[in-house]
Amino acid sequence: MDLLQKVTALAKRRGIIFPNSEIYGGIAGFYDYGPVGVEMKNNLKKYWWKNMVDRRENVVGIDGTIITHPKVWEASGHVENFGDKVVECKTCHKRINVDELKKNCPNCGNSEFTEARSYNLLFQTEVGVIEGEKQKAYLRGEACQTIYLDFKNVVDSTRQQIPFGIAQIGKAFRNEVTPGRLTFRSREFEQWDMQFFVHPDEMEKWFKYWMDERMDFYKGLYRKHENLRLEQHPKDKLAFYAKDAYDIEYKAPWGWAENEGVHWRGDYDLTQHSTFSGKDLSYMDPKSKERYIPWIVETSGGVDRTFLMLLFDAYEEEDLGDGKTRTVLKIHKDIAAYKAAVFPLVGNKEEIVGKAREVFNMLSEDIKVVWDSRGNIGKRYRYQDEIGTPYCITVDYETLENGSVTVRDRDSMKQRRVKIEDLKEILN
Ligand code: GAP
Repeated sequence: MDLLQKVTALAKRRGIIFPNSEIYGGIAGFYDYGPVGVEMKNNLKKYWWKNMVDRRENVVGIDGTIITHPKVWEASGHVENFGDKVVECKTCHKRINVDELKKNCPNCGNSEFTEARSYNLLFQTEVGVIEGEKQKAYLRGEACQTIYLDFKNVVDSTRQQIPFGIAQIGKAFRNEVTPGRLTFRSREFEQWDMQFFVHPDEMEKWFKYWMDERMDFYKGLYRKHENLRLEQHPKDKLAFYAKDAYDIEYKAPWGWAENEGVHWRGDYDLTQHSTFSGKDLSYMDPKSKERYIPWIVETSGGVDRTFLMLLFDAYEEEDLGDGKTRTVLKIHKDIAAYKAAVFPLVGNKEEIVGKAREVFNMLSEDIKVVWDSRGNIGKRYRYQDEIGTPYCITVDYETLENGSVTVRDRDSMKQRRVKIEDLKEILN
């Protein structure tokens, strides 16, 4: 099994990621997060928000809708340009994205393909219920468009002045021709975006600033920095809106894979929306009184992709001797679903179970903890290792005597005894 298969199996086995609609045979490109996965994903989004919004005086957040006025997607260029070029294998009829095409078909090995055809990736829907009055609409193909739509409202309603950014985490939808590799290329996914509005003369400076900031962000998240790199887009591969772009990539089991793009969008978006809406989206500098269309540095990353890369980055199989191994997710402690697990050593001794409940209740006031009283302690450790829980706390006979518990560390597997009253401080 390669790492992708191992991670896919672990994700299913431990409630991290499930294929959507599995009882109906599944639907390609759609995934659900299970009880453990949803906690991890929420932590990941909180981590990003803290880094990009809470800690910055010049970035504010919004939460925009998935469906917008359909003209948005004409103005953005997506109706015309948002496509994949795809060929079909003449033998087995597998469709292959031209960008991923090698000499031979990855399915049957043959080397004859049809001419490339373009597919638009936008999902269409209808707004309204009465036949003849329904309005065609699109599920947003990139989350950032709502940021441009709200630009003027944010300027008018906050104390922000250029340079400043608007951040958002939200769903995007793409009818990908070749979804696959678990959530890496899905049809419904989340993006974390930040659009930073600047004076054109300062574009270079801020573009560089955000590239460095975003690389630092990923370095803080991943353990294996050798698997992280920044790659400039070749000019002929630039998205239709970008004049320059860098990808932050992580080395996936199949090769370097894009996590996030830092894009030089210039005045493209606000100019397009001004033209199509007829509304002036220029900005007047309150000090210099200069009026101009702000330029935009975009940082746009995939939440689900980063999540998947984090699983690759964290997954380890360790030899414990005597033919035993353990699977452990050495995931960033802020991202782990639970900070700690609380175990009563035995499930049938009331005083121990009661004391363990007290510990659980005390910790759960401000730390995410999980309870487990099933099976032997070794099995419980293995389970928590597989979901990446950093600490396991066991209440045992000694606890009843002196109020101390054992705390076992996920990575070193070392145990130490600590007083119950010191637990919160230690875990934090
Ligand atoms: N607003 C710019 C934009 O959407 P993008 O490079 O097309 O740029 C940004 O997308 C990020 O969204 C990518 O770096 C990737 O992490 C994520 N992403 C794009 N398509 C995806 C898909 N089909 N499945 C999962 N994530 C995707």
